[in-house]
Amino acid sequence: MASVIVFLFILATQVSAFRVCPKCGKIRVPYPLSTDENCGDPRYRIYCNNGTVLEFMSAPGFYYKILSINPWTNRLVISPPLIQENTCYSTDLGVGGLQLDENLPFNISTRNTVMLFNCSDNILLSPLNCSSSSFCRQFVDVKEGYGCKGTLCCHFLKDASMTSHRIRVRLGGCTAYTSVVDKQPDDPIEFWNFGIELQWLPPF
Ligand SMILES: *[C@@H]1O[C@H](CO)[C@@H](O)[C@H](O)[C@H]1NC(C)=O
Ligand SMILES: *[C@@H]1O[C@H](CO)[C@@H](O)[C@H](O)[C@H]1NC(C)=O
Ligand SMILES: *[C@@H]1O[C@H](CO)[C@@H](O)[C@H](O)[C@H]1NC(C)=O
Ligand SMILES: *[C@@H]1O[C@H](CO)[C@@H](O)[C@H](O)[C@H]1NC(C)=O
Repeated sequence: MASVIVFLFILATQVSAFRVCPKCGKIRVPYPLSTDENCGDPRYRIYCNNGTVLEFMSAPGFYYKILSINPWTNRLVISPPLIQENTCYSTDLGVGGLQLDENLPFNISTRNTVMLFNCSDNILLSPLNCSSSSFCRQFVDVKEGYGCKGTLCCHFLKDASMTSHRIRVRLGGCTAYTSVVDKQPDDPIEFWNFGIELQWLPPF
């Protein structure tokens, strides 16, 4: 009798582990993503704030809004942090920028063109493109990047040669950043798809 109960319990937990989470606002939450311990796979935890706003939490506990999810390619796009008005500080500067927990099955995809702003001169030693024709120069003319106008800025494609768990900002380094997904060389800024694309390792 006891073993039957244990068996049923295991069966029940197995079944509930495969439950797909309900929509959050307008966004579908595909398996294995999990907004709740009763659905999805708990290693793929994301957050449904107020039942309406889907969010991804970085390792230091900063929340990024999820803009879209593609269940077929195992990718999701989060919103780059805002840049505070009148300064050139990303709102996640205090936690050092975007940092993913390396023990979790998420990483940063290789389709992000990252732009860094208000960088110190040391950055010129790096292989980033900090020239006067860098894409970052177009961004500082728009409303949100305006506080970064006149600062040293650079762009780079965050490809497989770099860590796929971090976009770093800090005082004395670069203090703000943004990112564009799948940027084509000649796209005018109106067509830039602002976001940071993450991918997840499928559970099986
Ligand atoms: C919370 O959700 C309700 C609708 O469910 C919405 O009216 C309200 O604006 C939301 N609040 C925030 C802070 O997003
Ligand atoms: C920097 O990027 C711009 C825009 O893509 C490009 O025209 C320029 O050749 C690049 N400069 C360097 C030094 O890579
Ligand atoms: C640029 O960064 C330095 C520290 O690295 C900071 O003191 C300065 O206020 C920043 N500039 C802007 C416009 O935010
Ligand atoms: C990121 O994760 C994907 C699968 O989810 C994997 O194919 C890729 O190699 C990972 N990239 C890095 C640089 O770890």
